Formats: sequence, structure tokens, C-alpha cells
Amino acid sequence: MDSIVSMVARHVNTVRAEDKIFALNREAGSAALQLGKEKVVNATVGSILDEDEKLAVLPTVLRTLRNFPDSEFAAYAPISGTTDYLESAIQATFKEYRPEGYIKAVATPGGTGALRHTIWNYSDIGDAILTSDWFWGPYKTLAEENLRKINFFSLFDNEKKFNLNSFEMKVSELLDRQGSLVVLLNSPAQNPTGYALSDDEWEQVILFLKRAAADKSKRITLLCDIAYIDYAGKTSDTRKFMKLFSGMPSNLIIIVAFSISKSLTMYGLRTGAAICVSSNKAIAQEFSDVLEASNRGTWSNGTRCGMKLLSEVMNDKELLSKVDEEREELRQLLEKRAETFLEEAKSVKLDTCPYKSGFFITIPVIQPEESCELMKKDNIFAVPISKGIRFAICSVPLNKMKGIAGRIKKVLIY
Ligand SMILES: Cc1ncc(COP(=O)(O)O)c(C=O)c1O
Repeated sequence: MDSIVSMVARHVNTVRAEDKIFALNREAGSAALQLGKEKVVNATVGSILDEDEKLAVLPTVLRTLRNFPDSEFAAYAPISGTTDYLESAIQATFKEYRPEGYIKAVATPGGTGALRHTIWNYSDIGDAILTSDWFWGPYKTLAEENLRKINFFSLFDNEKKFNLNSFEMKVSELLDRQGSLVVLLNSPAQNPTGYALSDDEWEQVILFLKRAAADKSKRITLLCDIAYIDYAGKTSDTRKFMKLFSGMPSNLIIIVAFSISKSLTMYGLRTGAAICVSSNKAIAQEFSDVLEASNRGTWSNGTRCGMKLLSEVMNDKELLSKVDEEREELRQLLEKRAETFLEEAKSVKLDTCPYKSGFFITIPVIQPEESCELMKKDNIFAVPISKGIRFAICSVPLNKMKGIAGRIKKVLIY
């Protein structure tokens, strides 16, 4: 054997590691086979499972999809997405809270594609991308894959409220060093904490970014990741803040990462969009042009039947209200699971991050890996993240939720 140990190029520094969540899910599956499904709590999966622990899908959505002609499955879509789809994605994002300004959308494979294109096109190589210290792990992968770094502000202050001070300090610090800054904020129903910025907190964030943009040599992009928005409550509560995206200075743009993965339970169909809001027509057109080119230079076209699916649902009032009703059932199920967990957590004094809605509840601990190992001994499988444990309430049925907080509390290492 000769001595070559790696063939990849110098900029590739990926370490071979099995995806942690899929590995844990597999372990939970083996435990269930050995001990019986009822003995194992698998809180690793980031999709909604029903009370029989099967993937929950919205039946009307699936029925609509199955009725499409062959050509909708087989044909290419235009590189930037079909016109109907782009208008439907904008409508589904803002509903009656559409901000004033120029709005452009480009289809991407899920919200992930919107995140990738934003990082690539709106920050410089080597820049730090800013997000909160509680964050969805792939943000770091996406930054590093695109030759950027990731940097954090503290999401919570001592009173478990949005830490505006930390946010402002970090934005200022990075803008001192960089000409451009991309900020990723996932709200409402944040992954992993379930937090949502209040309308007041949003107002403070936008006001501060507008102040920072007074320096016209800087370019600021706020990416608002709304992956879980349709599980966060009523439209009026979840989307009101979007009106704040009106009247931005030209050097501050908003990009919303839209996705049907969760909203239509179509995770595998890889259908999403990047939607930009700018007060400047040329900047909005530039967004559309560079993202279309990025589509061509990465994955080319998106999934045509996914696009058709959203436009069919959005353009048919009856269909839309059926889909909304079916999703509302899932949302209420999540709410009940969360209530059960959190009430008990309170009574056994198990600390959690401030959860408002969504798929996950997070428990802050100092030694996440070790704590999760100990939980496994009691057949509870959850995901260790950098500052705690992510417990996916979306995948644990109500009858298994009882007693969980107490069992976790017993084994935790703080
Ligand atoms: C916070 C967050 N953002 C974005 C996504 C993107 O998902 P998709 O690319 O399937 O839309 C996810 C998926 O889990 C997520 O948790």
C-alpha cells in the first residue's frame, strides 16, 4: 500500500461522521426491536409522528399530489421556479401581512437551499455568519461548506428573554470587521428551543439593524427562517412582525426561507423558496438574478410537482381550508405533548429553554453527551447539542410523554 491517506482538495475539512441524529434513531430502533416498542422513547426524529409513531402526513396534500398528471412529476421546472409557485410561496409566507417594498422569490430545494444561496451570495468568503447560540446544527455546516465561519450571540438573557444586548454587541463587532453581514434568525417555533421573538423583540431587532445600516459602506442581510411557522399558532400572531420588513434602507435586505417540508408535511419533496424584501427595485431584481444563477450552478431546477402542489393548495380556497384544518390537528397534538412535558418539568424542577411552540423542547445541561448516554440506559433517546439536550416532542406520542421529565431529571449531569 502507498502512503496516500486523502484524495480531497485542501479546502475540504469535513470529518467523516455518521449523522448524529440518524445514528441515534437507529439505536432507538434496535432497542425497540429488542425490548418492545412500548418500552422505548425515541425523541430524536425531527418530523411529526402520529400517536402510533408513524410519519404524520396531511391526507389532503397527499391526495392532491397523487392526482397530478405524469408530466408534473417528470418535467423540468423553470430554473427559478414556476410563476404560479413563486406567487403562492409569497402568499403562503406573508398572508395578510405582506410588507411594502419589492418582493421577489426564487425556488430552492427546501429552506436549506434558501439558506445556502443567502450565505453564498450575501457574505464574503471567510466572513462570519451570525446566529444564536441555540441553533440548528446545519447552519454551521452550511457556513463551513461555503467557506464561511459561524459566530453566535446569546439567545437568552438571565430572565430567559431575547438577549437584545448580546445581539447588538455581536452585530456591531462583526460589522467592525466585515463589509457584509448575514444574520440567521429562526423564529417562530425555533429549532431547537421552541422560542419565538415577540413582536416587540422583532421591532427592536429591525430598529437596531436599520441603525447599523446607517453606515452605507456595510451590507446587511437578515435571513428569517420560518421553517416551523405554521405550527406556531394563528396567522395574526405568527406573521404580524413581517410588516416590519417594510421601508428598509437599500443596504439592508430581508430574505425569508420558505419551505413546504413541515407546512405541508412534504419533507422529502425538497420544495422551498428564498423570498427577498427590499425597498430598492434594482436590489430586488439583483437578488432574483443571482439566486437564479446559483440554482443553475448548484442543483439546477427544483421539484416541479412540489411547486405545483403548493400552487394548487394556495389557489383553491376549499383545498386550503382542508389542509389548514388537518395541520391544525397536528399543531394541537404538539401543543398537548408540550403541555404534558412542561407541566411535569415544572413540578420536578427540570429546567428547559423558554418554549412557545414547535417540534422541540430543549433542556440546558453542561454535559449533553454524557447526559444523553445516561438517558439511553433508561431507554430515552434524545439528541445532545452543544449546550443541552434536544427532545423532539414531535416524535413522541402522548401516552409515552407522561413521566418523561421526571425520568430525565433523575439522570442529568448539570
Ligand atoms: C431550523 C430549520 N431551518 C430550516 C430547515 C430546512 O428544512 P428543509 O430544507 O427541509 O426546508 C429545517 C429542517 O429541519 C430546520 O429545522
